[in-house]
Amino acid sequence: MEQTAEININLRQIKSNIMAKKTVKAAKGKLGILLPGMGAVATTTIAGVHAVNKGLSDPIGSLSQMGRMRIGRRTENNKPFIKDVVSLQNLKNVVFGGWDLFDDNVYEAAVHAEVLDPALLKKLKSPLSKIKPMKAVFDKNYVKRLDGSHVKKGKTKMALAKALMKDMENFKKENKCDRLVVVWCGSTEIYLEESKVHKSIKAFEKGLENNDPNIPPSMIYAYAAIKMGVPYANGAPNLSCDVPALVQLAKETQTPIAGKDFKTGQTLMKTILAPGLKARALGLEGWFSTNILGNRDGAVLDDPDNFKTKEVSKLGVLEQILEPELYPELYKDFYHKVRINYYPPRGDAKEGWDNIDIKGWLNYPMQIKIDFLCRDSILAAPIVLDLAIFLDLAKRANMSGIQEWLSFYLKSPQAAKGVQPMHDIFKQQIKLENTIRHMAGEDVLTHLGLDYDE
Ligand SMILES: NC(=O)c1ccc[n+]([C@@H]2O[C@H](COP(=O)([O-])OP(=O)(O)OC[C@H]3O[C@@H](n4cnc5c(N)ncnc54)[C@H](O)[C@@H]3O)[C@@H](O)[C@H]2O)c1
Repeated sequence: MEQTAEININLRQIKSNIMAKKTVKAAKGKLGILLPGMGAVATTTIAGVHAVNKGLSDPIGSLSQMGRMRIGRRTENNKPFIKDVVSLQNLKNVVFGGWDLFDDNVYEAAVHAEVLDPALLKKLKSPLSKIKPMKAVFDKNYVKRLDGSHVKKGKTKMALAKALMKDMENFKKENKCDRLVVVWCGSTEIYLEESKVHKSIKAFEKGLENNDPNIPPSMIYAYAAIKMGVPYANGAPNLSCDVPALVQLAKETQTPIAGKDFKTGQTLMKTILAPGLKARALGLEGWFSTNILGNRDGAVLDDPDNFKTKEVSKLGVLEQILEPELYPELYKDFYHKVRINYYPPRGDAKEGWDNIDIKGWLNYPMQIKIDFLCRDSILAAPIVLDLAIFLDLAKRANMSGIQEWLSFYLKSPQAAKGVQPMHDIFKQQIKLENTIRHMAGEDVLTHLGLDYDE
């Protein structure tokens, strides 16, 4: 009886949430996707969208393009494409731009990145050559292994932020865009912790005027976008929009934001596997992850200060999923190590090894080995696209601030103060799908087993 009453309350709550469903404006006109950092990931994304639009290939890995989800009762067996459940931007009406400290156009940068087959790139040469990066806001103090001359000059960080806003306005006008979205695809900056200047909008704006060293370029881009109400996602592990001042600004300007660090490769595997081990109450003694990669990202991460940013982003995942404080017999003091090794011969074709020491019935030890011969940018490109498409949806649904439903795509998901970020990919998927159902005015799924006979 008690259980039935509880279920009824849950259902009532869910229904009242649905009553308050979002009104989503239709995705009309052109969407401009601006990418600060036009290296391997950005150019693979842009070239990919052009290849898809030409019918040369499929957008594999992108939920916004290929994903389906269940709508209604289980007995109805209705699994439409996500893009038919809510109004999403059509890829034919997307235009790309961005910034970089190297002035190579997207075709040249994609050739240099050596991710995509030269024969495919040749077929896309004409449109890709036309996309030229705007001058970057860059400071070598935050990315020591890079040096470029295609860089803006400005007396203060505020002046640089204003220059970025001007770039966005001009881009929007010149390309006749209705809306813009920004996704940071720039290099990982050195490790910085939240400090006084990040605490409020006022302190942050003063810091921009005073050239505060705790404001790196990625935060200047984030500020510029959010100030203009342009949705912003951060694909790198550096803080960028993950500070109270910018979260507050996002609320004030009605801007959806998401971060940090695209969830690809080894962390993707971790957040698939760890929930399964926990679900079956299998213990963990240690998880050692190491990999080799040879792209420019690998070169940047070879610097200890930049690697530290990545390491922090990668380490939080297992603790949060396994909850050792609740399951000390299974997970107390498990050893977790993450290594990244720069090895030029591999280029973007990373190889990641995981050695996982688990324990089962009566503490008997077992081992799992993973050897993932992955392609970093091939895994990241659909994430860039989906973040852009879904942030644009969030904006049209009047959602603002941190978009936790997009944690699905992120290694170190940004969460509200005092809220644990959610890393388990299956829970993230449920949250993403239910948010879309909610926006579409469809019943959210509770997985209580009642939804087929309601
Ligand atoms: N590929 C993946 O699987 C993956 C996964 C998670 C996160 N990331 C992150 O995504 C980012 C991009 O990765 P990538 O492989 O394309 O690296 P990349 O080195 O090929 O490209 C980064 C580009 O950013 C540019 N850049 C650096 N600082 C800039 C600034 N202030 N303004 C404008 N441009 C700037 C660089 O010149 C470079 O062209 C990195 O931070 C990486 O850590 C990548």
